[in-house]
Amino acid sequence: MAYLKPDRPEKVYVPALRKAKKKGKKLACLTAYDYPTARIVDEAGVELILVGDSIGNVIHGYGNTIPVTLDEIVSATKAVNRGSSRALIVSDLPYGSYHVNEDETVRNALRLMKHGGAEAVKLEGGRNRVNLVKRLVDEEIPVMAHIGLTPQSVHKLGGYRVQGKTNETAQTLIDDAKMLQDAGAFAIVLELVPREVAAIITKTLEISTVGIGAGSECDIQVLVLHDLVGLTFGRLPRFVRQYADLRDVMTKAVTAWMDDVKSGNYPNDDESYGLPEAVDIDELKP
Ligand code: KIV
Repeated sequence: MAYLKPDRPEKVYVPALRKAKKKGKKLACLTAYDYPTARIVDEAGVELILVGDSIGNVIHGYGNTIPVTLDEIVSATKAVNRGSSRALIVSDLPYGSYHVNEDETVRNALRLMKHGGAEAVKLEGGRNRVNLVKRLVDEEIPVMAHIGLTPQSVHKLGGYRVQGKTNETAQTLIDDAKMLQDAGAFAIVLELVPREVAAIITKTLEISTVGIGAGSECDIQVLVLHDLVGLTFGRLPRFVRQYADLRDVMTKAVTAWMDDVKSGNYPNDDESYGLPEAVDIDELKP
């Protein structure tokens, strides 16, 4: 019996990333934190959705990712899961959820997967996370690592700056990336690292690199959706290319509606419920 191939592209699972790297095929990853944005990016065809702790900046207005809680990521992941059918869903382990001990980390990662519907988790750090990554992978939890600028370390780093600019720090990044691969990570985010360093890491590793502000050589590119579509406030990082200005589109829509309300132009007869003709209006008492 011959099976017809469905015309919808196949669901993306972790092994698809390595296959794509082998073929030299670039993949795309965007953040999403709710049902509508998950539907939009999934239907557009991105291969990965990251339920990032950038939710703290973009959605909750915290100013950084430190206050983000596991509950917030679980809730966002549930919505994203309902809104997507194809992309691989990776959820961030937020600050504090993997810092106490391995058992607690496993519990938190399992909660993201069992209750949230995450298909992989992401955590920040280099050689200091190697044992943790091994443990998570041993428990069948796929892990994406994250090195370079790690926003959860903003207080230690003293700001959001390019990492790996000297020979010594660049070498540390390259060595960390190899250790994380050996520990079992299936991909590594490289955030704000010189493109030459990202290129070396990408060439050296068998697993995929996921670049953000790290040049075009990375296997996968990731951006915060709200930066891409112009829904963030404040200065954008230099590496962001903004493809739409939804803030302007939304402001214009809200202003037009408000003007119509105030001029009596909204609602009009078509947008209001009239009484059925059977009701005699003269019998209604004011
Ligand atoms: O939280 C996030 O959105 C991220 C990306 C910037 C990689 O970690």
